[in-house]
Amino acid sequence: MNKWLRRILKGVGIVVGVLVVLVIGLVTYVQLTWDRPVSRAVPQMTAPTDAETVARGEYLYNYTQICWFCHGSEGSHSPGEPQAGGREFDATDIGPGFGYLYGSNLTPDRETGIGDWSDGELVRAIREGLDREGHLIFPIMEAEWYRGMSDQDALALVAYLRSLPPVRNEVPANQLSFAAKALMALGMIKPQPAVTEQAVVPPRGATMEYGEYLTLHGSMCAGCHTPRSPNTGVYDMTRPFGGGDFLIAEEGVDTTGPNITPDVTTGIGDWTQEQFVTAMRTGVRPDGTVMVTFMPWPVYTRWTEDDLRAVWLYLRSLEPVAHEAPASVLTGQAATGTGSARGEGLYGVYCATCHGGEGAGSLLTTMALKDAGLGMDDTTLARFIAEGLSGTSMPGYGKTLTEEQIAALVAFIRTW
Ligand code: HEC
Ligand code: HEC
Ligand code: HEC
Repeated sequence: MNKWLRRILKGVGIVVGVLVVLVIGLVTYVQLTWDRPVSRAVPQMTAPTDAETVARGEYLYNYTQICWFCHGSEGSHSPGEPQAGGREFDATDIGPGFGYLYGSNLTPDRETGIGDWSDGELVRAIREGLDREGHLIFPIMEAEWYRGMSDQDALALVAYLRSLPPVRNEVPANQLSFAAKALMALGMIKPQPAVTEQAVVPPRGATMEYGEYLTLHGSMCAGCHTPRSPNTGVYDMTRPFGGGDFLIAEEGVDTTGPNITPDVTTGIGDWTQEQFVTAMRTGVRPDGTVMVTFMPWPVYTRWTEDDLRAVWLYLRSLEPVAHEAPASVLTGQAATGTGSARGEGLYGVYCATCHGGEGAGSLLTTMALKDAGLGMDDTTLARFIAEGLSGTSMPGYGKTLTEEQIAALVAFIRTW
């Protein structure tokens, strides 16, 4: 009996020993290799500096590629705010927990921004997901979709960045978890392959072909509306545009892009082209409700009708995917707060993209909500919110928010 016990214990000891060696080996391997730079030639490119190119870059940056979504400061809400970085991305509850990441300073400051980068290095960062030294740029920034951008569009973005005023702001270093490092070391999270061929961009117009470029590489629709693995973040390309499988926690709302394929029951197969264009340009769905601004419709209000029709034609050409994405749910103060605290939560989810922090305005409206509110009593203010303002991009929230929610917004506006 004793002899057997000893043999078993010895066996267990060997297994444990081997496991310990394997774990130490894996940990060492991960620690040594996760941030190993890729050696890859930097493309030799020069961004034009003419006003037209800068304007194109600004249009892409603010209104289609929504770079400002991630490169403003912590607490910035709208396009047009300084792009000196620092916004925190809490990816601790996504998949295995990736850790905390920070949007980079994209202003031309030489020490803390991109002032010293070459044009080719910037284009490579955007399209291939590699920083100056060849380290992976974590795919919170989805180079996967930017990869198909034409040289001309990528260089226009660079031209625009160079035109920004330099802002000195040291962004905190990312704090990646062991799981994130392990996935990087094992090559499951990796940079994009080198871009070796010039993308062929169809001429701009209301065509399916141009819509394909715009949807996949000229704006971020594909990134938000395609399901991805909860563990590695890899897109499930068997179900493109089929909508997310799980909700992602954003400030005040858990949300994911819905199914926008032509499936009639779970997608937008029963929408007309007019309904689609209206939803994109006004934020209002066919049932009269207004979308949350995590869907960046406020910037799409600036698109031309032809661009939206092109996207529509492309979406219509997709295979219908039968998949019901979970609907957005309000969280935190927006859901359970009272009075102005609830109003603050709702303001972040529905209003801040256009009206800016403390109602100071943005690229999308120069009117200061703070001052406008002063001249109105609460009932009038509530009516504006419920009914909207025709002739402007201000939608009516009467079918989206309850009277109590609108009263909470009024209470919050009164705190400024
Ligand atoms: C969804 C959020 C998101 C969007 C949208 C986004 N970025 Fe980023 N970007 C990041 C994050 C986060 C980093 C830093 C990642 C890291 O440190 O690994 C980054 C890094 C970069 C870098 C590298 C800078 C450096 O100092 O390392 C450049 C250049 C860049 N982004 C440009 C752009 C441009 C141009 C756009 C629009 C076409 C854009 N980004 C859109 C989140 C985003
Ligand atoms: C940053 C992520 C993001 C981007 C980029 C994005 N969407 Fe969305 N989209 C969403 C979310 C989230 C919703 C749900 C909004 C809500 O719950 O109120 C949505 C809703 C929609 C809807 C309404 C669907 C329905 O069934 O109600 C359509 C249509 C749509 N998006 C199309 C697009 C198109 C086209 C693009 C690109 C031009 C795009 N989206 C870009 C996240 C995004
Ligand atoms: C797509 C951008 C957009 C969104 C989102 C938006 N607004 Fe507006 N809002 C506007 C514009 C544009 C105006 C008109 C300002 C002007 O005349 O330039 C306006 C006007 C208003 C007014 C009327 C002010 C006046 O003097 O007539 C109120 C009140 C208001 N918004 C509150 C809100 C609230 C609260 C929310 C969120 C629930 C919200 N808005 C969401 C763009 C927006």
